Amino acid sequence: MAAVLPPDGSARSVRIVRDRASLAAIRAALPGPVGLVPTMGALHGGHVALIERARAECASVVVSIFVNPMQFGPGEDYERYPRDLEADLRTCAAHGVDLVFTPDVPTIYPPGHSTTVDVGPLGTVLEGAARPGHFRGVATVVTILLDLVRPDLAYFGQKDGQQVVVVGRVVRDLALAVGLVVVPTVREPDGLALSSRNAYLSAAERAAAPVLYRALRAAVDDYARGERDAERLRARMREVLAAEPLARPDYVSVADRETLEELAAVDRGALLSLAVRFPSARLIDCWPLD
Ligand code: PAF
Repeated sequence: MAAVLPPDGSARSVRIVRDRASLAAIRAALPGPVGLVPTMGALHGGHVALIERARAECASVVVSIFVNPMQFGPGEDYERYPRDLEADLRTCAAHGVDLVFTPDVPTIYPPGHSTTVDVGPLGTVLEGAARPGHFRGVATVVTILLDLVRPDLAYFGQKDGQQVVVVGRVVRDLALAVGLVVVPTVREPDGLALSSRNAYLSAAERAAAPVLYRALRAAVDDYARGERDAERLRARMREVLAAEPLARPDYVSVADRETLEELAAVDRGALLSLAVRFPSARLIDCWPLD
């Protein structure tokens, strides 16, 4: 365990643990309610929004930093996923995090680990279709982290809309004793959702990337004007994406917010979502419709 001081030299320090026994001991002494912000590090303003929300609602805030190999497929970016623990610890200290849990892979998946959490069809559509096994990895690691940290509340970003639905189903189906808090997406001034993968974009791709936001906005605006035909909303998003030569759409979706089944008509809300490939990165974004 080590202590890190925030950059401004103020008195608050953050404790860091890597192993299960130290985590359990420190966790037992934390005043409740305890909030967990699970992350894969490379912390940005979106994570800070989660931490600040947890800070406002909980007596103690725990951040986990673990790049989870199980949620990356073969040929995906596990190896090159951005890692900067020193910067992450400074961010945590500066935002009043009480405890950072930075396990290594065998701490989460000890030798012989073979049990996984599979949410069924929710995990095989949209991102799950493009990234087979991804949500088994997410559901498994989130279940393990919730069990190890035992938070009262856990904080997730709305940007990963399908992840929010999947984790909600895991918590419900396994009767896990935790409340989930979904925090609105944080965006750059041009609308691009903050994401660790934005760091992969070239200057030209970065200039093109707000097309995801513009596509969502176009459909949201049509919906606000009364459009309820889901296929016309999908077509609207495709039309905006088609105008950006660097963007190759993977999917656009107008789905039920609980089942993620594609809708014909939007009469009880929906989740708009899309995934777009640029030469250097694949980006996702979403927008819940009420
Ligand atoms: O959203 C993420 O960063 C990850 O999917 C999560 C929830 C930390 C699980 O590895």
